[in-house]
Amino acid sequence: MNFRSKNLLVTGGAGFIGSNFIDFILKKYKNVRIFNLDSLTYAGALNKTEKFSSNSNYKFFKGDICNQTLLNKIFKEFQIDGVINFAAETHVDNSITNPMPFIKSNINGVFSLLNVCYNNWMKSPFKYNENFLQARFHQISTDEVYGSISEGSFCENSLYSPNSPYSASKASADMIVRSFNKTYGLNVTTSISSNNYGPNQHKEKLIPKIINSIKNDDYINIYGDGKNIRDWIHVYDNCNAICSIFNESESGGKFNVASGQETTNLELILKFKKIYSDKPKIRFISDRFGHDFRYSIDTSLIKNKLGFKTTFDIENYIKELNI
Ligand SMILES: NC(=O)c1ccc[n+]([C@@H]2O[C@H](COP(=O)([O-])OP(=O)(O)OC[C@H]3O[C@@H](n4cnc5c(N)ncnc54)[C@H](O)[C@@H]3O)[C@@H](O)[C@H]2O)c1
Repeated sequence: MNFRSKNLLVTGGAGFIGSNFIDFILKKYKNVRIFNLDSLTYAGALNKTEKFSSNSNYKFFKGDICNQTLLNKIFKEFQIDGVINFAAETHVDNSITNPMPFIKSNINGVFSLLNVCYNNWMKSPFKYNENFLQARFHQISTDEVYGSISEGSFCENSLYSPNSPYSASKASADMIVRSFNKTYGLNVTTSISSNNYGPNQHKEKLIPKIINSIKNDDYINIYGDGKNIRDWIHVYDNCNAICSIFNESESGGKFNVASGQETTNLELILKFKKIYSDKPKIRFISDRFGHDFRYSIDTSLIKNKLGFKTTFDIENYIKELNI
């Protein structure tokens, strides 16, 4: 199957998931040109794009998704006919100390992208320009939008109940994306994934922190009693899911993406300790404000509709890290 877009704008492609996604697509498809727009915040780095930066189907632009003038220029010059938006402020702790950048990039930025898609692809509500009949916007969302659940799992039609400024900004973006689909008929899809792990993740996130603590024989700080539960999916499996949704879903489709491998933060660290001579050493610290106890999402929809399966197991991944 060919990729849905010929000229795909990937935003946030110098970050963790975006850089893995570009690598995934350029390896899998030869008929797509990828334009990566990233403002290179502290979380973005061009060394994450080294694997593919010389590929003739790839081009990088440094810039902000809030800048509609720049977006319009890129859309017009390169006939952009698909957007996958990874660009966001992503660290919950930062959203607690300073929420403003989260509102700007995660809400205003998404509005700006949608507005430019509408203006370039459509004549009027529900009427696409001839050359852009297949054009689509995909939003990358997070399981954190649903909030915490002690038993069972959230489905795609569960109510949103975000608890941190980060998850509230992502939930707001999902609503704006939905409104562009319902009001203007813009072709949109959304994927809502659990915690990702894999190459290129920023050192501020839990698994890179564990790895660095082992390397430096240092302590890892754990919030509260470490019993908070997260589902962990390998970034490759998430990229595969995003690609299927973007290519195959009907417009307006929204899919949960997770592995079903739920673990407490403490259990996750114990998996490392078992393999790496009882490292890292653990230090418990006072809990994060508004810390969600458990995220859990039901993935029946993507399995049944798109035949999605995960291929990675987190325990094997930890072993193969060979720290
Ligand atoms: N990492 C996870 O476990 C996870 C889980 C679920 C959902 N998500 C979502 O996936 C997406 C990517 O997450 P990630 O972990 O790769 O994040 P990341 O922090 O590693 O990368 C984000 C990238 O976006 C760029 N960026 C930020 N603001 C921008 C702006 N205004 N304009 C242009 N570029 C900007 C940064 O420079 C960076 O390269 C985010 O939308 C996040 O909410 C992540």
